[in-house]
Amino acid sequence: MSNMKTIGVFTSGGDAPGMNAAVRAVARTCYGHNINCVGVYNGYEGMMAGNFEKKLKSKIANIMQRGGTILKTARCQEFMEAEGRARAAQELKANGIDALVAVGGNGTYTGALKLGQEHGIPIIGLPGTIDNDIYGTDYTIGFDTAINTAIDAIDKIRDTADSHNRLFIVEVMGRHAGYIALHTAIGSGAYSAFLPETDTNIPEWVNTLNKQRKKLFNIVIVAEGNKNGNAHDIAHKVKESGFERDVRVTVIGHLQRGGSPTCQDRVLASRLGYRAVNSLLSGESGIALGIINDKLEKTPFEDAIYKKKELCVDLMEMINLLST
Ligand code: F6P
Repeated sequence: MSNMKTIGVFTSGGDAPGMNAAVRAVARTCYGHNINCVGVYNGYEGMMAGNFEKKLKSKIANIMQRGGTILKTARCQEFMEAEGRARAAQELKANGIDALVAVGGNGTYTGALKLGQEHGIPIIGLPGTIDNDIYGTDYTIGFDTAINTAIDAIDKIRDTADSHNRLFIVEVMGRHAGYIALHTAIGSGAYSAFLPETDTNIPEWVNTLNKQRKKLFNIVIVAEGNKNGNAHDIAHKVKESGFERDVRVTVIGHLQRGGSPTCQDRVLASRLGYRAVNSLLSGESGIALGIINDKLEKTPFEDAIYKKKELCVDLMEMINLLST
């Protein structure tokens, strides 16, 4: 039997739709085990400042459908220093918080790993980022909502692209990984995707497109971190390479981070939140939870942080073929 009395939960890094469902699941699972749950505001920043929500129970009703995070979030440089982590550990101890559930991406896991190693605080990580770039899970919390938001926008762009016979270069998020771009491209029937993981020779690409006269309008999805630059840079290069039709650019940007989570994100977040508390109560720590092939997967923080999740080869192969 665990003698844990209070578990803290926080969200950190870029927000992602479904984070609230995760917080709710963590809190309600704690209550189901007759233990206390405290919310930490503003991620690691709030932890260092002792900014805790001790009446979390009164805050978690009616949040399942809400985007963003009721606990707020931050990207915190200070926590990258040992001194910041020592301050956070002191605050946790002073407030009787025995263990933590961290919801976030790579940076969140890096902080959690160090906090656990240096101060012996049990921590379980949950993958909360729209980027889907976390090793040890098929999908991250927020990804499904983000790609659905993106394809909703692109369906509308398609109408105007069609009316004017234009090429639209649409930029989606993803600094280091092309998951959002690749899934959005397949789901929206785009002509091509420019990803951080691939190289596209723009003059050759333009040449091919110019030859396909039957195609009067095209949508191209560009991940913000792709090798050819941002959507505006690419539009410029495309025109310089002799593209014969009109080109327009749309940057979807932070629209992708907001909005009510899809059912898939809500269920994923709830399942992982529930399992995180059970893991802590059975003595586990220093691991990130995920779902692979519909089964719970436990990955040491080191692997979740440093191993790279590869893009799906099928999707990469398919895109050009399906669009011609
Ligand atoms: O990590 C999620 C993410 O949305 C990335 O796709 C994007 O590059 C980044 O965050 C943007 O961060 P910020 O909102 O801090 O500008």
